[in-house]
Amino acid sequence: MLRVGFIGWRGMVGSVLIQRMREEQDFDLIEPVFFTTSQAGGSGPAIGKEIPALKDAKNIAELKAMDVIISCQGGDYTTEIFPQLRGAGWKGHWIDAASTLRMENDATIILDPVNLNVIQGALANGGNNWIGGNCTVSLMLMALHGLFKADLVEWATSMTYQAASGAGAQNMRELLKQMGEAHRVASDLLSDPASAILDIDREVAGILRDEKFPTAHFGVPLAGSLIPWIDKDLGNGQSKEEWKGQVETNKILGRQSQPIPIDGLCVRIGAMRCHSQALTIKLKRDVPLDDINGLLAEANPWAKVIPNEREISMQQLTPAAVTGKLHTPVGRLRKLSMGSEYLSAFTVGDQLLWGAAEPLRRMLRILVE
Ligand code: HSE
Repeated sequence: MLRVGFIGWRGMVGSVLIQRMREEQDFDLIEPVFFTTSQAGGSGPAIGKEIPALKDAKNIAELKAMDVIISCQGGDYTTEIFPQLRGAGWKGHWIDAASTLRMENDATIILDPVNLNVIQGALANGGNNWIGGNCTVSLMLMALHGLFKADLVEWATSMTYQAASGAGAQNMRELLKQMGEAHRVASDLLSDPASAILDIDREVAGILRDEKFPTAHFGVPLAGSLIPWIDKDLGNGQSKEEWKGQVETNKILGRQSQPIPIDGLCVRIGAMRCHSQALTIKLKRDVPLDDINGLLAEANPWAKVIPNEREISMQQLTPAAVTGKLHTPVGRLRKLSMGSEYLSAFTVGDQLLWGAAEPLRRMLRILVE
């Protein structure tokens, strides 16, 4: 059995990973070893089988004893430890949720329902660095897989509605605190059916702009508002999150030499853990909508086409409906008034599942099987 080391299993992505691995009985197939940056010698998580005491995540000799390492510890850990480990001659498989190594030439971005061929090609060539993609990119590809598979996409824009979880666990907590504050200042007025809505609105606007409003993590209000910038400013008007759309999509698809232009604006909204995106897709040719629906529905078991109708879209194509689920619905499919080659689409996906943990555990399965 492969000896598999886990780092960062206590964090948000790590916890989802462990939960999914338990559900899929992945631990039956491996010899798991849990590492810690703070509690070596302590007890690891309950995974339904005996495991050794926690090992020190900075001990290169202990790490070197692993056949596979899965890190959800974050970019700083990868930056510090990965070069030391490879420098010490470790040839094992490094599976990482952090973005640090994603665009390196010797790293493969893993999203096997979409790019198993790329993964297998890299494996055949001795590849051993397997990095999870940006969540927005992975979720877009899971949902729109059928169009890319049929090589129908000339270009696409993606306008995103990204959840708090993408910014981290503390940000999810802060969003809820902000919601609570917004409700608190309006609650007396709200419970009085005769109160004026503009009085309620004034109270809410007042607290959103109050210096005591909890914004330590987001920097600004998200509840009752939105944030039209995600990640670093690249200095050319584009955010790093927006830059990833094109470079990561094309790397995942293995078509960096003939990249499909993909660009748009990335926006944070007050959802908990589901990223949504509205896409405009320029098709290479006019394909009937029924055929498009078929291609999307058949591309992988998780892409689920939602008919472009009001009631079902409102019920099934939302963060509230999709949170905690593995399927990646795609709907609002219609030809835009610009012409029959211009398609709209709207997708929703759980940012912690296909956007983070799921590709990691599936890469482990590929290595095991
Ligand atoms: N960068 C993403 C976000 C999450 O901020 O929502 C990680 O892919």
